[in-house]
Amino acid sequence: MVRSRISGTGSFVPKMVVTNNDLDRMFDTSDGWISSRTGIRERRVSVSETTAVMAAKAARNALKSAKVSPKEIDLVIVGTVTPEMTFPSTACLVQSELGIRSGSAAFDVSAACSGFLYAIDAADKYIRAGSAKKALVIGVDRFSRIIDWNDRSTCVLFGDGAGAVVLTAEEGHRGILLSDIHSDGRHWDMLFAPGSIQPCHFEEKAFNDYYVKMNGNETFKLAVRTMGKAITDAVGGAGLTTRDIALLIPHQANIRIINATQERLKLPPERVFTNIEKYGNTSAGSIPLALDEAVRAGRVKDDDIVVLVSFGGGLTWGAAVIRW
Ligand SMILES: CC(C)(COP(=O)(O)OP(=O)(O)OC[C@H]1O[C@@H](n2cnc3c(N)ncnc32)[C@H](O)[C@@H]1OP(=O)(O)O)[C@@H](O)C(=O)NCCC(=O)NCCS
Repeated sequence: MVRSRISGTGSFVPKMVVTNNDLDRMFDTSDGWISSRTGIRERRVSVSETTAVMAAKAARNALKSAKVSPKEIDLVIVGTVTPEMTFPSTACLVQSELGIRSGSAAFDVSAACSGFLYAIDAADKYIRAGSAKKALVIGVDRFSRIIDWNDRSTCVLFGDGAGAVVLTAEEGHRGILLSDIHSDGRHWDMLFAPGSIQPCHFEEKAFNDYYVKMNGNETFKLAVRTMGKAITDAVGGAGLTTRDIALLIPHQANIRIINATQERLKLPPERVFTNIEKYGNTSAGSIPLALDEAVRAGRVKDDDIVVLVSFGGGLTWGAAVIRW
């Protein structure tokens, strides 16, 4: 049976570090408020590192770790809601920057913080259908461009960053065992960025600005419920139980959401990877960035069951169960 194996991981974050104390100097907030409610201590903010630059750097690192040449890649999928341009896709820009073969396929997917899981789900299906042999899957976001730096209830939560994996078609028992993605558009207004000053035709509302809007309390509750269920459904679908999980890599939105999910599933804390304190919520970048750090820290061993789980605007959510 052909499966998609993660043969390499990579990541990239911008140089500029913005700490909670830096934000405290800009507006009325504090390190105590931010870190106790979210677990975030600092985040990266891009200056010259645009979305395509971050994506290409993370991708280059993933190709290096997989020992795969750009010429071998036949599919590039980028999960992002902060693309470099309206078009072409950020995936086409990465294809050009890395010298990936002309004629391979490259496209973006839009699923907010679930962007990477949507992208890896699609790539896995191309590989298992025999339509691709080696895929580059990237999650990247530059939320610093779409958050309102005058809205302390949202701007403290997000940061910029990218992560990438190389998926390789391989026979055998290792690789992605199952991936599942979901959405519920009824809750689109829980977390969104109008992105324009035009009226939204569905609701006949005119938004007076462009930036991220969020109902924090409702998002929090839905995230805990949804991620827990997504994990149990996905491991069950793969014929496993939550006790088989060697490492859970959840979307890094809030340490309290992650801890509540871990407690709900009765997972030992050492089986849950977090790096939110350094980067905040990097949206589609968060899971592959955490995965790359976990791999580089030696937290993932051959044959381990690794579970990725996401939650984000849309609403969108998803999970992937991987035998490493
Ligand atoms: C946003 C979030 C941290 C808010 O935490 P909370 O404990 O629910 O806090 P509340 O919204 O009740 O706000 C409490 C108070 O803090 C204030 N506050 C908001 N942001 C603040 C900040 N950055 N610094 C200081 N005070 C702040 C509010 O104005 C409010 O004050 P009030 O009681 O005088 O009105 C939390 O709801 C959350 O993390 N939600 C999920 C968000 C998320 O993960 N989104 C992405 C999903 S992919």
